[in-house]
Amino acid sequence: METIVKKTDKNQIDKEVIREAGDILKKGGLVAFPTETVYGLGADALQEEAAKKTYEAKGRPSDNPLIVHIADYEDLKKIAVNIPAETDALAAHFWPGPLTMIFEKSDIVPYGTTGGLDTVAVRMPSDPVAAELIRAAGGFVSAPSANTSGRPSPTTAEHVLEDLGGKIDMVIDGGSVEIGLESTILDMTVEPPMILRPGAITADMFEEVIGPVSVDETILGSESKKPPKAPGMKYRHYAPKARLAIVEGDLREEILAIRQLAYAASREGKKVGIIATDETLPFYKYGLVKDIGTRENEKTIARNLYRILREFDEEDVDTIYSESFAMQGIGKAIMNRLEKAAGHLRISAAAVVKEQRYRRIIFVSSADSARGPMAAELLRQEDLEQEYVIDSMGIVVLFPEPANQKAEAIMKSAGMTLAQHTSRQFNDENLQDDVLILAINEAAKSKLLAEYQNAVNVYTINEFAEDETEIPDPYGKPLTAYGECYEVLKVLVGKVAEKLNAFAKGEK
Ligand code: TXA
Ligand code: MG
Repeated sequence: METIVKKTDKNQIDKEVIREAGDILKKGGLVAFPTETVYGLGADALQEEAAKKTYEAKGRPSDNPLIVHIADYEDLKKIAVNIPAETDALAAHFWPGPLTMIFEKSDIVPYGTTGGLDTVAVRMPSDPVAAELIRAAGGFVSAPSANTSGRPSPTTAEHVLEDLGGKIDMVIDGGSVEIGLESTILDMTVEPPMILRPGAITADMFEEVIGPVSVDETILGSESKKPPKAPGMKYRHYAPKARLAIVEGDLREEILAIRQLAYAASREGKKVGIIATDETLPFYKYGLVKDIGTRENEKTIARNLYRILREFDEEDVDTIYSESFAMQGIGKAIMNRLEKAAGHLRISAAAVVKEQRYRRIIFVSSADSARGPMAAELLRQEDLEQEYVIDSMGIVVLFPEPANQKAEAIMKSAGMTLAQHTSRQFNDENLQDDVLILAINEAAKSKLLAEYQNAVNVYTINEFAEDETEIPDPYGKPLTAYGECYEVLKVLVGKVAEKLNAFAKGEK
């Protein structure tokens, strides 16, 4: 089947497109269309056969009921019975909008649509294209998210075509959706009403209108053994192909842990994706880093989540690490979808961070022009189990200067360069618990200890490498002296690397 694709602007709806789509739906066909939450796969909700086609196109288990979309509030009474009194107030506040309510179904709703249940889920979307289409189709359009079952929900028409191109009659392309996560589902058949799926409309917002609501305990966290009350919530859903893990902790720890995890996975030859935010983007060096939005506005994160998961799929990423997001507002829905995408795989940032004894290594010499920068570059070339920021600094650096030319010549002949190096003065900001300071010799170490009473983790390279070979001072001597110095440093730095790798494996 060839899928017709028609564009329409929600501010200037193309009536012809809507008429054509409405006709397809009336004849029992399938049309994907934009809503404010995600794209839906529309079918006539009152035709049993149309529901069957929907399940087939999505590859969705048929016990997973569909949401019936309406465009006019009066129509609710035709498909639902025993509608509780609070419904009017909820609809007045949140319809049209990203809220789905569950009621006892009327006889005209076929069991095919409700997955065999006696209840029906109903939503009145706010997207004007959706509303017009629903009216054109006769008023009742069932629409699950327009993705292949198990894939992230579509937030653009392109996403729909990726999954369902050739399997459905038509896609109405109305551009990117506004919210990006599926509607909140509120079960109105229980007292008080219960949230079965979190979304843009939150418990607090309901409470302001009808007082307290309850929340299906299975929504967040993997602890619960009970099945969720919305059948669709039990499937591993929204899932990218890659293994996705959510890293949890305070933000600083999360960044450090993700850096470490990404480094380790890259080292194993894996393609790593990282879900970062505007605020944290610059901190990542390894992996394919994607900006999901700003922490100052959770809505931006909601909007981009599914698109980013799809992009990682296209880029054939093996493992994705995601930061965690605040649970306020739509944040709860974000974390709920992310956890489902991750199959509840969570990693404690603190535990990863604790495993790493040193995070930064500074080689300290007097002028930071030859031996320090050579040692630092040599260590950068070593095969290290963990990621370190490796620097060199001097105790007496009056002006920032490039590396000594003879040192650079020697490094170049060994296939390395100090071209990026500029000498820097050491200061006490560099004294931290997770910073290892390796002095080029005893004199440099003594100076550091004399100058900084609070100095920690200060060793000579010889001490740390457990090798007494003296590092010669080539300053003012011919090139060969620099070459000899290089040879000694190479051996000692190799031993430093071994020791660091032993720490990384947890040896003392
Ligand atoms: O935002 C949305 O709600 C989107 C757009 C297209 O409107 N639709 C959507 O549909 O997310 P779908 O099929 O992907 O998710 C519907 C969810 C499923 O988890 C399903 O189990 C639940 O709603 N559901 C539907 N009818 C139900 C019922 N009678 N009782 C309990 N859960 C129900
Ligand atoms: Mg869905």
